[in-house]
Amino acid sequence: MAKTELTRELTSLTVDSNLIKAAIFDLDGVIVDTAHYHYMAWKQLAATLGIDLTIEDNERLKGVSRMHSLEIVLEIGGVSLSEAEKEKLADKKNGWFVDLIEKMSPDEIFPGVTDLIESIRRKGVRVGLASSSKNAPRVLELLHIRDQFDVIIDGTMITHSKPDPEIFLLAASRLDLNPTDCLVFEDAEAGVEAAIRAGMKCVGVGNVAQLGKANVVIAKTGDFTAADLDKL
Ligand code: BG6
Ligand code: MG
Repeated sequence: MAKTELTRELTSLTVDSNLIKAAIFDLDGVIVDTAHYHYMAWKQLAATLGIDLTIEDNERLKGVSRMHSLEIVLEIGGVSLSEAEKEKLADKKNGWFVDLIEKMSPDEIFPGVTDLIESIRRKGVRVGLASSSKNAPRVLELLHIRDQFDVIIDGTMITHSKPDPEIFLLAASRLDLNPTDCLVFEDAEAGVEAAIRAGMKCVGVGNVAQLGKANVVIAKTGDFTAADLDKL
């Protein structure tokens, strides 16, 4: 991979790759474009409330839990609802999201991601998944990649979603590793913050404008190769 493809030089990531014993991947927006499906479902729900949810607004929803996402949508629209009404709306959005993901197949995995995970594993680096989504296990099943992960942490296993570091700390603890041994791949601002707060290094996947706090930012997950771990 030409270094020019990276938003920042990999050399800026001051990690001794020998210290990286695990790569922990976010799911939505890092392995597959389910981030877009979340957006479609939230936009549809917002429209029923007379709220026009923009793609910029959507950045705030990435990585955070379903209920927190709904609260952000309501805040954007200046709408206030009871807990019971919020539960109903969150269920409605999830129903639309589930309809979208049920049509998914392995060919929707982002280009290069399967190879990246396999080559990371071949180097003896372990691989984890840390997604705030309660639907993560189903998505992994539909993509036929569940068995590629040494540990899977999803939204049902945590109390606080990103930007809280809980999800990444739990992944490290299940891998029996120190947080400093782990490198996170994240597309959400909240996720990058969670990784940093967990004491982990982070590769941001997306725009430097949103993910500038990451140690390095790449445009697409497939832009990273296992060989890059040696350049870190
Ligand atoms: C995260 C997504 O992975 O999961 C968020 O980035 C989403 O956008 C969150 O709100 C919760 O997902 P779910 O599937 O439990 O509603
Ligand atoms: Mg994500």
